[in-house]
Amino acid sequence: MPHTMQRGFLLLAACCSLLSITPISACPARCECIPHLKSVACHRKRLTSVPEGIPTETKILELNKNRIRCLNSGELSSFPMLEELDFSENIITNMEPGAFSNLFSLQVLRLRRNQLKLIPPGIFQKLTNLTLLDISENKIVILLDYMFQDLRNLKHLEVGDNDLVYISRKAFSGLVSLQELTIEKCNLTDLSADSLSRLQNLETLRLKHLGITLVEDQNFRKLYNLWLLEIDNWLSLEDISPNAFQGLNLTSLFITFTNITAVPMTALRNLVHLVHLNLSHNPISTVPKGAFQELTRLRELHMVGALLASVEPQALYGLRQIRLLNLSSNFLSTLEESAFHSVNTLETLRVDQNPLVCDCRLLWILQRRKTLNFDGRPPMCSSPLEIQGNALHDFPDSVLFEYFTCQKPKIRNRSLQRVTAYKGQAVSFQCRAEGEPVPSISWVSPQHRMITSKSLGRATVLPGGTLEIRYAQAQDSGTYICIASNAAGNDTYFATLTVKGPPADSILDANRTWVLRDFNDTSHNDTQVFIKFTLDLKTILVSTAMGCITFLGVVLFCFLLLFVWSRGRGQHKNNFSGEYSFRKVDGPTTASGQGGARKFNMKMI
Ligand SMILES: *[C@@H]1O[C@H](CO)[C@@H](O)[C@H](O)[C@H]1NC(C)=O
Ligand SMILES: *[C@@H]1O[C@H](CO)[C@@H](O)[C@H](O)[C@H]1NC(C)=O
Ligand SMILES: *[C@@H]1O[C@H](CO)[C@@H](O)[C@H](O)[C@H]1NC(C)=O
Ligand SMILES: *[C@@H]1O[C@H](CO)[C@@H](O)[C@H](O)[C@H]1NC(C)=O
Ligand SMILES: *[C@@H]1O[C@H](CO)[C@@H](O)[C@H](O)[C@H]1NC(C)=O
Repeated sequence: MPHTMQRGFLLLAACCSLLSITPISACPARCECIPHLKSVACHRKRLTSVPEGIPTETKILELNKNRIRCLNSGELSSFPMLEELDFSENIITNMEPGAFSNLFSLQVLRLRRNQLKLIPPGIFQKLTNLTLLDISENKIVILLDYMFQDLRNLKHLEVGDNDLVYISRKAFSGLVSLQELTIEKCNLTDLSADSLSRLQNLETLRLKHLGITLVEDQNFRKLYNLWLLEIDNWLSLEDISPNAFQGLNLTSLFITFTNITAVPMTALRNLVHLVHLNLSHNPISTVPKGAFQELTRLRELHMVGALLASVEPQALYGLRQIRLLNLSSNFLSTLEESAFHSVNTLETLRVDQNPLVCDCRLLWILQRRKTLNFDGRPPMCSSPLEIQGNALHDFPDSVLFEYFTCQKPKIRNRSLQRVTAYKGQAVSFQCRAEGEPVPSISWVSPQHRMITSKSLGRATVLPGGTLEIRYAQAQDSGTYICIASNAAGNDTYFATLTVKGPPADSILDANRTWVLRDFNDTSHNDTQVFIKFTLDLKTILVSTAMGCITFLGVVLFCFLLLFVWSRGRGQHKNNFSGEYSFRKVDGPTTASGQGGARKFNMKMI
C-alpha cells in the first residue's frame, strides 16, 4: 500500500512539473490562474518562497497568507509586467536590496501584516509607477529619511499599526503625488510638522489610535491641498492649539474619541470652507455661544455621544447652511431654536437618546415633524411623566398646547431689599423664581454689567439665585436688578445697596495696611480668617494704652478676688492659672503678630 501511494505522488509531482514548464497556459502548482487577466493567485498554500512556474507576462500576483520569510534580490526580476503584487500576511522579516528591481510597471505593492522591522534604504528604488504601498501591521519602528524617495507617483500610503515611534524629518521626501496617508495604531507621541510638510499634494490624512496629547500650532502647515483630516482615537489628546489648523483649507474634519473637553473654537475659525465636522465621542459638555461662528459653509455637524448637557443660545450661530445635525446620545434636556442661526436650512436632525423635556422649547421641532428627517430615530420625551417615552412626531396637533407649554418665571417674595453695609463686609441679595422650565437667574450691576454664576471676582450668583458680593466697596452702591428668565419670558426685581465708610470709633481707614490672622478658634487651624486692618500711629498708641489699662485692671481685679477668696477658704491651693484673651480692642498687640489668646500662670504664696 505505502508503495503505490508513493508512486502516485511521484506521478502527480511529475505531472505538475511538466505543466509548469509549459509556457503558454502555465500556472504554478497549487495556484489559481486567470489567463485573460494575467493573474496568478496562490493564497494559503504554505509557500515559503515565490513558486516556480509563474508566467513571465503575469500582471497580478497574489501570494498572500503564505509562509514566505524573505524576499531575495532579483527574485521577481523575471516578471517585468507585474502591476499588482500582494505579499500580505506572510512572515517576511527581510527584504534584500534589489528585491523589487526591474518592476517598472508595478502599481500596487501590498506588504501588510508581515514581520518587517526595517525597510532598507533604496528598496523601493525604481518603483516609479507605484501608486499604492501598504506596509501596515508590521514591526517598523522608525521611518528613515528618503525612505520613499523615488515613489513619485505614489498616491496612497498605509503605515498603520506598526511599532512606529519616530518619523524622521525627511522620511516623506519625494512623495510628491501622495494623496492619501493613513498612520494608525503607532506608539508615536509626536507628529512633526516638518515631516508632514513635505506632502504638498496630500488630500486626505487619517491619523488614528495615536498617543499624542497635543496638536501643536501649525502642525499641518503647507498641506495646502488637504481637504480631509481625521484625528480618531487619540485617547490622551487634551488640547488643540488655537493655530493648530492654520494654513489648512479643509472641507472635512473629524476629531473623534479623544479627551478634549471643549469645542476647539479658535482652531476652527480658520476653516471657513469646512462642510463636514464630526466632534463625536469627546467629553465636551457644552456648545458655547458662537462656537462655530465662521463656519458659514458647514452642512453637517456630528456631536454624537459627547456628554453634551447644553447647547447654549446662539451656539450654532453662523451656520447658515446647516443641513444635518446629529446630537444623538447626549445628556441634552432640550435644544432651543435660539441655538440656531436659522432652523430653516435643517433637513436631518438627530436628538434621540437624550433626556428631552417636552415643553415649549421643543415646539419648533414639533412644528416641523412632518418635514424634518429624523433618520429613523425620532426624538422621545423623557419628561413630563404623562408623555414619557412618546416620540415627538406621534403627537397630533390637537394636544400640542396641552403638553408643549412653558410657564413664565415668577419671582417670589418681592419685598424690596435695601441693604446698608460697611466697607469690606459681605452682602447678599436673594432672588428665587418659579417657572417651567426652571428659570435661570442673572443679575445686573449698577454699572449695567451682567453677573451670572460664571462671573469671577467679588460678585457672583450662587446656585439658588442669590447674589453675593464679597468685600463690599463704595462703588458697589446702587440698584441691582435680578432677571429670572426661561423660554417663556422673564421677570425682574430690584434691590439696593448702600456701602458706608467705616464706623467713627473704628481703627480702620488710615494709611497703613495690616493683614493678620484672627485665631478666634485655635482648635481649628483651617478656619483661620484673614482680616484687613489699616492703622496709624496715634490709634496704635491710644489703643495700646487702653489695652494696657484694661489688662492691668483685670489682673489687679483678679488678685483682689483671689486674695479675698483665699482668705475665706484657707490655704487649700497654692497654684492657679488664669486665661486672658485679647479680642478686637487689643488690635495692636495682635497686630504685632503674637496671637490673640494667651495664658499666664502665677503662684500664690
Ligand atoms: C507600543 O508600546 C507598547 C509598550 O511599550 C507595546 O506593548 C506595543 O506593542 C507597542 N506598539 C503599538 C502599536 O502599540
Ligand atoms: C482624560 O482626561 C481625564 C481628566 O481630564 C483624565 O483623568 C484621564 O486620565 C484622561 N484620559 C487619558 C487616556 O489620558
Ligand atoms: C479652499 O477650498 C475651497 C473648496 O475646496 C476652494 O474653493 C478654495 O479656492 C480653497 N481656497 C484656497 C485658498 O485654496
Ligand atoms: C448620527 O450618528 C450615528 C452614530 O454615529 C450614526 O449611526 C448615524 O448614521 C448618524 N446619522 C446621520 C444622519 O448622519
Ligand atoms: C425680557 O423679556 C422682554 C420681553 O418679554 C425682552 O424684550 C427682554 O429682552 C428680555 N430680557 C432678557 C434679559 O431676557
